Amino acid sequence: MTYSIIGSGNVGTALARQFARSGISVGVANSRGRDSITALAEELGGKVAAMTLEDALKADVIILAVPFRAHTAVAGAARDWAGKIIVDAMNTYGVAPEELKGQASSDLVAVAFPGAKLVKTLNQLPAKLLAMNPAEGGGRRVMFVSSNDKAASTLITTLVGDLGFAPIELGKISEGGALLDRSGPLVLQNLIKLG
Ligand SMILES: NC(=O)c1ccc[n+]([C@@H]2O[C@H](COP(=O)([O-])OP(=O)(O)OC[C@H]3O[C@@H](n4cnc5c(N)ncnc54)[C@H](OP(=O)(O)O)[C@@H]3O)[C@@H](O)[C@H]2O)c1
Repeated sequence: MTYSIIGSGNVGTALARQFARSGISVGVANSRGRDSITALAEELGGKVAAMTLEDALKADVIILAVPFRAHTAVAGAARDWAGKIIVDAMNTYGVAPEELKGQASSDLVAVAFPGAKLVKTLNQLPAKLLAMNPAEGGGRRVMFVSSNDKAASTLITTLVGDLGFAPIELGKISEGGALLDRSGPLVLQNLIKLG
């Protein structure tokens, strides 16, 4: 399984740190190009690779850590999303509720990546907390996971656990995903699972 993070800002960098700490290889891309990421890759060691967007989009699992509106530009950068898992780590800050047309934000993202399986996770914590070692207070920081595809949910739940978090699956986007949307009750909850 190959992984990439699109976005090298607050969230992309926080996630790259978790991959590096966990010893899981990941490619990172942004809009400015590889050269703008090489310093981060060098700092984090051999598991994090600076990539072009084109190469990063070849990964099996693609984590979107870009501003919400930018997901359509990312989607336009490749043709075939069949078999891919798109992890929506975005929030809709700055997006008027009318733009979502009453839909869960992840449902809109899923439409932009036809053929891919969409999983919503890694969006709930502020980037500073997301970057910290999830092992804390004798437990692990909770990370919720939601998807309409059970197999994709299971796979990403395993990844989230391998990154050190205590993953909790919430079921489908219409159920769990709504709890993780911008003003959902599970956003900005710094929860530690004991045991
Ligand atoms: N900040 C938080 O605490 C936080 C927490 C949870 C979730 N979120 C969500 O996570 C997402 C990222 O937030 P952030 O704070 O990390 O934003 P950010 O610091 O502004 O970083 C955004 C990144 O997205 C890249 N990007 C933008 N358009 C792109 C495109 N078309 N193709 C490839 N890369 C593109 C930018 O590339 P360049 O570097 O080349 O400009 C940048 O690296 C947002 O949806 C946000 O709502 C944020």
